[in-house]
Amino acid sequence: MANTYLFEDEKGSVFAFFSISNDCLNDLGDEQGYTNNIWNRLHRFLGLPNAKRIGQYPAIKIGRLGVHKDLHGSGIAYELMDFIKGWVMIDHKPACRLLILDAVNEPKQVKYYDRNNFKFLLKSDEAGKTRIMYYDLEKLMPI
Ligand SMILES: CC(C)(COP(=O)(O)OP(=O)(O)OC[C@H]1O[C@@H](n2cnc3c(N)ncnc32)[C@H](O)[C@@H]1OP(=O)(O)O)[C@@H](O)C(=O)NCCC(=O)NCCS
Repeated sequence: MANTYLFEDEKGSVFAFFSISNDCLNDLGDEQGYTNNIWNRLHRFLGLPNAKRIGQYPAIKIGRLGVHKDLHGSGIAYELMDFIKGWVMIDHKPACRLLILDAVNEPKQVKYYDRNNFKFLLKSDEAGKTRIMYYDLEKLMPI
């Protein structure tokens, strides 16, 4: 279902990992919480003119991600996210604009993704265990 990548130190101990898969954001209507408001906000964020708007956007999903607990707060987690963004664009060549994930809805995780410029998609998952977040890969394109 996904590819998982491990980062090892010189002794072969894993200190960070992430997994990644192809995914899609679908306009499934109110049932899934994807109201017109939310969809419109996403369209505005992506800067899409009306004629180019569709109900389905391909995406790359970060399924799991973590760094060894001894390295929390060291900055490695931020280097990991910079690596993932660059790797997705350069090596994976995803042919899509969105990097998405289901963030554990706890202050530490949400702060981490916010600092890495991920945005919430929905309001309806505010009280959920996880929240959908997205990052616009176009930010990485040279102007
Ligand atoms: C989520 C996770 C990756 C975040 O990594 P982290 O290192 O704990 O990240 P934090 O945001 O808590 O640490 C940031 C600290 O690193 C330091 N730091 C170093 N470089 C930094 C940078 N470039 N940007 C921001 N902070 C940086 C800061 O001092 C900051 O401290 P502060 O919050 O007091 O300002 C990590 O906690 C983890 O692997 N958790 C277990 C698995 C998990 O929850 N995965 C996510 C599932 S959604």
